[in-house]
Amino acid sequence: MKLAVLVSGTGTNLQALLDAEERGALAPGEIVCVMSNRPGVAALERARAAGKPAHVVDHTQFAGREPFENALLATLAGHEVAAVVLAGFMRLLTPRFLERFPDRIVNIHPSLLPAFPGVNAQRQAFAHGVKVTGATVHFVDASLDAGAIIVQAAVPVLDDDTVESLRARILEREHELLPWAVHLLAAGRLVRDGRRVRVTTT
Ligand code: GRF
Repeated sequence: MKLAVLVSGTGTNLQALLDAEERGALAPGEIVCVMSNRPGVAALERARAAGKPAHVVDHTQFAGREPFENALLATLAGHEVAAVVLAGFMRLLTPRFLERFPDRIVNIHPSLLPAFPGVNAQRQAFAHGVKVTGATVHFVDASLDAGAIIVQAAVPVLDDDTVESLRARILEREHELLPWAVHLLAAGRLVRDGRRVRVTTT
């Protein structure tokens, strides 16, 4: 299954996907391109270092969401992409885009959804005082961080944590969780029934 990874920043989750692919852990998933809406980010360098086509589709250069998404869609079509992984991609996608990849777009979020959607999920969890937070990979729908949940991992919040130490502990789990979820998607092992996603054994 040909995959695109959409990024906006550092790209450590992208790196985890690239590393997983390298050791055969993403199969039958294959990363065929990386796209960033921001130029000059580290994620683009990671893609190039792995020999992947790396495209910048800068949202600030377009007159609105529709032409921006048309440019994304054209690039995806050019690579015959079948599924899209959002790995720290900081733009909302419209229903028109989502309809092109039904149950084929996944996102990683640094909390146990539905707790703490939106930006700064780690800071939200820290400020709320929860004892357990985590990471979630979910299907993307038109809602913000509220699509059907695929896999989750719990991460403890320790007494001496800072937002940064908590962020780092969550990120470690993200790097395991996202490649695993993408492998399951590519292998056709995810069966969604409404909000419930089952992982089949074969
Ligand atoms: C991750 O915490 C991810 O869950 C969130 O944005 C961050 C991206 O980090 N959506 P990176 O660019 O993969 O290092």
